[in-house]
Amino acid sequence: MSVHVQNSRMTTAKLRQMKASGEKIAMLTSYDFTLASLVDEAGIDMLLVGDSASNVVCGNQYTLPITVDEMIFLTKGVVRAAQHALVVCDMPFGSYQVSEEDAVRNAIKILKESGCDAVKIEGGEEILPAIRHMIQIGVPVMGHLGLTPQSVNQFGGYGLRAKEEKEAEKLLHDAKMLDEAGCFAITLEKIPAALAEKVTKEVSCPVIGIGAGNKCDGQVLVLHDMLGLNQGFKPKFLRHFAALAGDVKTAVGN
Ligand code: KIV
Repeated sequence: MSVHVQNSRMTTAKLRQMKASGEKIAMLTSYDFTLASLVDEAGIDMLLVGDSASNVVCGNQYTLPITVDEMIFLTKGVVRAAQHALVVCDMPFGSYQVSEEDAVRNAIKILKESGCDAVKIEGGEEILPAIRHMIQIGVPVMGHLGLTPQSVNQFGGYGLRAKEEKEAEKLLHDAKMLDEAGCFAITLEKIPAALAEKVTKEVSCPVIGIGAGNKCDGQVLVLHDMLGLNQGFKPKFLRHFAALAGDVKTAVGN
């Protein structure tokens, strides 16, 4: 993963400039001060306090159980670490689906209490009113389409999404709606590479892929996966940049 070492803080405007100039954007998840400091120092553009914390930090099978307060607790440490990167906090399951008002209240709570720069939300047209409202009041929002893990029970697993034409058309439509609403970026997870490339060309905001080919404006990975800390998880798209699980066991065993 190539990174950009520079002194100034990353902003949503700079991310747009990076898309315009073809400079790739690097995003990694982080959940604690120590690792976030290292990732930030390495020059990563965006730190995502993903609700994957439910899996890699809390040991849950799904992302669904993690709460707003737990996300805020983790995000505070990452915010303290970030000198350069833009910090994005995932809105967890149940924090934005009930009503527009509830969604906006939770987005404000996350921004105020954690100190993060932006929130990320899973879903398309169905949550557009809440997204529009957040953006209007000054909350930067990152969209998330394709394999949205909070819908795992509806999808029946973590397989590739938008393989069929109808779902692909909806995804492209949703991406355009999120872009027009003012999302500063969109995550595309586990969809065909050709569809991710089409979305990337047709929206004005940066598109950050995970398991969506290499033609997006940038890539996001779960830190524990790319560092090889999570031995049981080896999807086809995942490149291990290190094998730290073995190193930890050797160090601890000595
Ligand atoms: O929660 C998370 O880590 C994410 C990434 C997989 C994009 O949403």
